[in-house]
Amino acid sequence: MTSVAVPLLVLLLSLIAVSAARQGPDDIIKLPSQASMFFRPADDDNDSSAGTRWAVLVAGSNGYWNYRHQADICHAYQLLRKGGVKEDNIVVFMYDDIANNEENPRRGIIINSPHGKDVYQGVPKDYTGDDVTVDNLFAVILGNKTATKGGSGKVVDSGPNDHIFIFYSDHGGPGVLGMPTSPYLYANDLNDVLKKKHASGTYKSLVFYLEACESGSIFEGLLEEGLNIYATTASNAVESSWGTYCPGEDPSLPPEYETCLGDLYSVSWMEDSGMHNLQTETLRQQYELVKRRTAGVGSAYGSHVMQYGDVGLSKDKLDLYMGTNPANDNFTFVDENSLTPPSRVTNQRDADLVHFWDKYRKAPEGSTRKTEAQKQVLEAMSHRLHVDNSVKLVGKLLFGISEGPEVLNKVRSAGQPLVDDWNCLKNLVRAFERHCGSLSQYGIKHMRSFANICNAGIQMEQMEEASSQACTTIPPGPWSSLHRGFSA
Ligand SMILES: *[C@@H]1O[C@H](CO)[C@@H](O)[C@H](O)[C@H]1NC(C)=O
Ligand SMILES: *[C@@H]1O[C@H](CO)[C@@H](O)[C@H](O)[C@H]1NC(C)=O
Ligand SMILES: *[C@@H]1O[C@H](CO)[C@@H](O)[C@H](O)[C@H]1NC(C)=O
Repeated sequence: MTSVAVPLLVLLLSLIAVSAARQGPDDIIKLPSQASMFFRPADDDNDSSAGTRWAVLVAGSNGYWNYRHQADICHAYQLLRKGGVKEDNIVVFMYDDIANNEENPRRGIIINSPHGKDVYQGVPKDYTGDDVTVDNLFAVILGNKTATKGGSGKVVDSGPNDHIFIFYSDHGGPGVLGMPTSPYLYANDLNDVLKKKHASGTYKSLVFYLEACESGSIFEGLLEEGLNIYATTASNAVESSWGTYCPGEDPSLPPEYETCLGDLYSVSWMEDSGMHNLQTETLRQQYELVKRRTAGVGSAYGSHVMQYGDVGLSKDKLDLYMGTNPANDNFTFVDENSLTPPSRVTNQRDADLVHFWDKYRKAPEGSTRKTEAQKQVLEAMSHRLHVDNSVKLVGKLLFGISEGPEVLNKVRSAGQPLVDDWNCLKNLVRAFERHCGSLSQYGIKHMRSFANICNAGIQMEQMEEASSQACTTIPPGPWSSLHRGFSA
């Protein structure tokens, strides 16, 4: 034996002894990859846990009907704190209009499941309100304090041995994520920032959990391997993700709530992390479990959880990124204790309607509240019709009656990014919005159509003309009050 192999063997034996001692007589570890935790590459073996844990938590929406995104983020904060991650190392982005919202039946409290405890207390207000911006997010990830505007100025001031966890929950569309402020967060810019962060040599590995519609499109064909980044997304590049714990679902909400409390992918990983000893569970195991739960039952709902980047990192224990709650020391992860999928969930894009509808249903006959809720449903519906119809009409004006829908609905093969020229995409979206009004959180579902218009070589002037013509025919409606802060 070489001199390296002997200490390795000693380490191995002592690890087995420790792990045997930790188990109670009835605790059987059923890990398919049990052996792999002892046979890791030498450089990993040596102090991969020595670095500091950092986290960036982002809720990209505002409005009470989007309660769930900020609830997800607050819940994640509590989880990381219980895991031992320091407050100084967790940067939180949330608009912060939920806890004290007049619609909130329990003022000052946010819950993330029907019987959940308050997750709002203690969450630091690093970047709130109009400081929840793309620029601040990028400055925080890059650790550039001087580039932040407003907010606490807290940034990810990480070093080469550190581990970074980023969790983002919001609406999205192909190639884009929402923000409560303008502009949207485009996928190419996010991936550029991650590359820059890697080039600065200020982390050992980075894990990105992303909840949004079409969230696969944020990394597909864009996140390179070799950056030591592992990402999982709530959905693939072409489908919606799902809200959960919504009015009318089982398990039922406390009756005073008229809004979804969580998102399916988000609560799946958090409820899993919240109950286990995370020194025994790998990212891979969590991915598999969350994938099963998020897939739903049958094909009626649910989405495909995806993974991107350096998938090899998924052999890491969750503890490396999230810490672990000592109260869960005896709860070793076993595949069987998978969380059961809920019986019904709500499409991300319909959760606002569910809220307005439930509010309408419950409001007393003849009340101002009933009239207000009715107005909100109608405005939301008319906005949808307007956006859908004007995008369709733009397509027909550009490519003809029969070709138009075909070009707009084209989906590139898997592994290809949505668009080749991201500046073209941004410019065409702006041109459309100048004439037709903001796409808003619902309308960003049409991003693929705009991308296809770029891919077909349409120029800015042609787009201006088509949009102007389309939205003279279909004038924008009066919904802007509903989508405050979301115009581009
Ligand atoms: C482990 O890390 C220490 C300090 O960084 C270094 O001196 C040592 O050579 C490393 N050992 C192995 C086996 O890589
Ligand atoms: C940090 O941001 C400032 C202001 O945007 C910029 O001038 C500076 O170059 C950035 N620093 C680094 C290290 O990127
Ligand atoms: C774990 O189990 C051991 C042995 O049964 C017990 O002594 C210990 O208190 C338990 N730890 C926790 C955190 O429940």
